[in-house]
Amino acid sequence: MKGLFITLEGIDGAGKSSHVEWLAEYFRNQGRCVVLTREPGGTPVGEQLREIVLHAPMATETEALIMFAARREHLDVVIRPGLARGDVVISDRFTDASFAYQCGGRGLSEDRLAILEAWVHGDLQPDLTLLFDVPNDVAQARLSAARAPDRFEQEKRDFHARVRAAYLRRAERYPHRIRVIDGSRTLDAVRAQLATILETL
Ligand code: TYD
Repeated sequence: MKGLFITLEGIDGAGKSSHVEWLAEYFRNQGRCVVLTREPGGTPVGEQLREIVLHAPMATETEALIMFAARREHLDVVIRPGLARGDVVISDRFTDASFAYQCGGRGLSEDRLAILEAWVHGDLQPDLTLLFDVPNDVAQARLSAARAPDRFEQEKRDFHARVRAAYLRRAERYPHRIRVIDGSRTLDAVRAQLATILETL
């Protein structure tokens, strides 16, 4: 069976994490092997880089390079081998997050980032990206109840508004790959929409 690469995206607090296990179950029920993973992270080196990039202050370029260093390792150790086995690889975030956060949020040039993308995985894009979208106020309210905020969660309101806008622009640019999910609805309503999208795969 052909491997399937699915990525989950959205601003912090959009609710994607609430659906990861459900998605994995959906594919397991079809008899597929599922690899659940995340970025930044997903490998021993990547998880160390995650600790650094989520907590240490640094230049925007450094941040982008660390994201792609972790991604390079992730592709080698987890994503490509999983796809080669025919598994469904579900990653909580991937390169769309770099375009949304480092370009949209921080203002890094998209041309620069596109060079890193071409270098690190020019031959490979997700088969499907589920973009969980909620208004910034809703996301913010969900986050304030959560654990201690990391460097991205600590950013101001306009940062998150720019990240959201950048994600939505990417969804307009790649409508066949990126499907927008209204994450402000109930879990059941979101799952019904997810099921409809997955049936088309
Ligand atoms: P997140 O999925 O929000 O982790 P958690 O649910 O445990 O908080 O990811 C961590 C942060 O990393 C998130 O705020 C977005 C940021 N990020 C980037 O800025 N660029 C990237 O390329 C990736 C993958 C993540």
